[in-house]
Amino acid sequence: MGSRVAAGAGPARKLRVVGGKGGFPGGAGPVLDHGRDDDGVIADMVRLGDCIEQMRELPAGSVDMVFADPPYNLQLDGELHRPNNSRVDGVEEAWDRFDSLDAYDAFTRDWLGAARHCLKDDGTIWVIGSYHNIFRVGAILQDLGFWILNDVVWRKSNPMPNFRGRRFTNAHETMIWASKTKDSRYTFNYQSMKALNDDLQMRSDWYIPICSGGERIKDPLGKKAHPTQKPEALLHRVVLASTRPGELVVDPFLGSGTTAAVSKRLRRRWLGFEADPAYAEVARARIAAVEPVDDPELVALESRREAPRIPFGWLVERGMLVPGTILYGGARGQWTAKVRADGTVVSADAKGSIHQVGAQVQGAPSCNGWTFWQFDAGTTRLPIDVLRQKIRDELE
Ligand SMILES: C[S@@+](CC[C@H](N)C(=O)[O-])C[C@H]1O[C@@H](n2cnc3c(N)ncnc32)[C@H](O)[C@@H]1O
Repeated sequence: MGSRVAAGAGPARKLRVVGGKGGFPGGAGPVLDHGRDDDGVIADMVRLGDCIEQMRELPAGSVDMVFADPPYNLQLDGELHRPNNSRVDGVEEAWDRFDSLDAYDAFTRDWLGAARHCLKDDGTIWVIGSYHNIFRVGAILQDLGFWILNDVVWRKSNPMPNFRGRRFTNAHETMIWASKTKDSRYTFNYQSMKALNDDLQMRSDWYIPICSGGERIKDPLGKKAHPTQKPEALLHRVVLASTRPGELVVDPFLGSGTTAAVSKRLRRRWLGFEADPAYAEVARARIAAVEPVDDPELVALESRREAPRIPFGWLVERGMLVPGTILYGGARGQWTAKVRADGTVVSADAKGSIHQVGAQVQGAPSCNGWTFWQFDAGTTRLPIDVLRQKIRDELE
């Protein structure tokens, strides 16, 4: 959720679904060129109704990724006011209220169970929450057999202040990312995440502003159309990290449609469930206005795993590094090794592949020799990986 503050007590949660399980085509139309329905799912729709029922009705193992922003059960009473006495616009909707923690846990078990049913064995699930619910969600995920891969902290660059001054400013939310089982061969687009982060490994703390300004959807009276609209930047990263173009993303608690809007833009298939007809309509209109990126090449994944394997020996054969060339390892080039004619390298105490010798000189369990070792390139030193890339470029 975006920054949430509950204002006003009210009746315990009662889910009211108006209009049955109608579907709104999300305006995707036949824009994407990937196949549809090969998994038996009619996708690219906002479906009105209870997500538990609807996920149970999806074919087993048909979904690649679930992103869920469920009710947080904020459990706060009373209106909250700013120091100037204006009322804080928080989450006071019935869908966020539960009679007890037990009731919340039972609801969580039900929807997570339904998500597990429709998720592929190699699929993953993301659940976002705050300290109010995320620990309960984490335990239930594990109880159901999911395997937690990361907890990602969304650090808000512009959090809501703590008006009462009695606690720390609540400046983050947590996303649990989990695969269906410990053995799942799940998708993680490591290279895309690294590229998105200026060629540094993406960390698990994400610094992203809450949704505001032009991105925040308003009703005709200028009031927020949904109290907990998530920033598209957050979903951009989630979708890019854990799905491939054409894969099916399901959001059981669609709200204003953020997950679907981003998925559509990034040429993924999507399906959103929403119990409230007014929110479903907001989402439908929003998604319909989104254009998918028109050139598939622009969303194609950066993946070195799919690039041809280049043995280090090819650099020697091609004369890019002649036998006897000194390689330097470590931030200050404190380790050295000599290139041998057969593509192995030798240091003072070790002989073997660039990876083996790199690991051995550092006393490390493993080493990526391509990025560890550097060679003299005129007035500077460059990682040997640039030479591998040259060969890759030639082969393309
Ligand atoms: C936290 S909001 C999601 C906000 C959304 N991520 C966004 O960016 O707009 C949760 C949404 O779930 C909906 N909801 C609650 N219980 C539901 C259920 N059982 N099935 C489907 N939708 C439900 C609520 O109406 C609410 O819009």
